[in-house]
Amino acid sequence: MPAFSIHTYGCQMNVRDSDLLARRLRAAGFAEAASEDEADVVLVNSCSVREKAEEKAIGKLGMLCAARRGRPGLVVGLTGCMANRLGPDVFGLVPGLSFSVGPRAAGPAIVSLVERALAGERGLFLADANRARPMDAETTKEAGAGEPHGSSAPASFVTILYGCNQRCSYCIVPSVRGSEESRDPRAIVAEVREEAARGAKDVCLLGQSVMRYGRMGFAWPEALPSPMGFSEPLPRLLELVAREVPEVRRLRFTSGHPSGVTDELVRAMREIPAVCPHLHLPMQSGSDRILREMRRGYDSARYLAAVRRLREGVPDIAITTDIIVGYPGETEEDFESTRRVMEEAGFDNAFVFKYSPRPGTPSALLEDDVTDEEKRRRDQILLADQDARGQRCNDRWVGRTVDVLAEGPSLRNPARWSGRTGQNKIVVFDPAPGLRAGDFVRVSVSSARPQTLYGALDTAQTRP
Ligand code: 5AD
Ligand code: SF4
Repeated sequence: MPAFSIHTYGCQMNVRDSDLLARRLRAAGFAEAASEDEADVVLVNSCSVREKAEEKAIGKLGMLCAARRGRPGLVVGLTGCMANRLGPDVFGLVPGLSFSVGPRAAGPAIVSLVERALAGERGLFLADANRARPMDAETTKEAGAGEPHGSSAPASFVTILYGCNQRCSYCIVPSVRGSEESRDPRAIVAEVREEAARGAKDVCLLGQSVMRYGRMGFAWPEALPSPMGFSEPLPRLLELVAREVPEVRRLRFTSGHPSGVTDELVRAMREIPAVCPHLHLPMQSGSDRILREMRRGYDSARYLAAVRRLREGVPDIAITTDIIVGYPGETEEDFESTRRVMEEAGFDNAFVFKYSPRPGTPSALLEDDVTDEEKRRRDQILLADQDARGQRCNDRWVGRTVDVLAEGPSLRNPARWSGRTGQNKIVVFDPAPGLRAGDFVRVSVSSARPQTLYGALDTAQTRP
């Protein structure tokens, strides 16, 4: 049977989609290749959010198609956001590409596309229509049939909201991922249950704008009550999943938006034990003028009010963020506002991106007037600020004992293991004999760096 390999770029939703595609291919009898060089079918699951990510994927596809000279039967397929953004033009950019398929059409179509390409067809193209059947629980169930349980990592993802309606000025997502569509809570529960059966202990519920879950064209099913008395869909969903799938000890959701930080959501985070004290809340900028231009729907005061509400309501919460530097017209003063507001928010971690104009977005019509060098300088300043801030945040954990979900040998030093806390902090520790990925352990933290905690197993308290 032919062997496949999937190369993934971009966000967690792509990681999840790649996983689902792999399951479908395995269920259809394909094997996972030990390495890309041994694969008969290579899929590139791509991201369009920044130009760099697209360049990398195009480079990769070009290399794979060139490799075909020595491996004439090699199938090279493109999946993900670029398939939608580029349309059939992609076959001009990457001559020899076998097929290209959008992220939502890919699930149901992948097996037949691969089979047709293996039979020698080229240039097959399938973009997403918004009505296309999403990769949902029903379809993954059939795809996962017959697979051994317990084969997945202890941390996993489940998509709950497709697309995005927010229309931030710089963002390609609405045009490549379609408009917002919330999944039925029962389908979500079924899929989380399936992840639990495969060994997941930590599940992150995904949506580009996850707090919009259930807010558009959706009525929460009457048959699913909320004993905790929630009326908003996301708190109700968190309550439902926590109750229905107790094997999943940790629940997260990402990415957030300050308008979604309601009293109910804060209460859900505080009172549902499985819901982690962790929120990724992209701020993008601290300048009110730039935030307005970005059409983010909040100013720095509203953003900081959401942060305050979270800190007051959820003990020990970790808040992380995304920032864009060098948005068109961003002045030194705007940038200094961003530095100031980041400091006030006290982020545990921050991902900084250099602005990249995306064709077809409103901001692509503006002059990209901050030079590359200046973007790089601002990026580095924010990262240095964040290093100092991350160190201060993490120093607060030294001397405390934390619950860690063990994930496996640490990348830097395989003699040690790493895992994560509910706050999503990476903890490195010496393993005890017999420790398995997916075990919960207690670690007493002895030192900290900006991105990592270090400690020793508190064996007396290690839970079974
Ligand atoms: N340029 C740079 N960064 C971007 N992001 C989204 N669009 C762009 C763009 N055009 C960043 C945002 C978002 C993260 C996933 O990627 O910070 O939160
Ligand atoms: Fe893009 Fe804005 Fe939607 Fe996030 S919320 S995916 S930044 S449009």
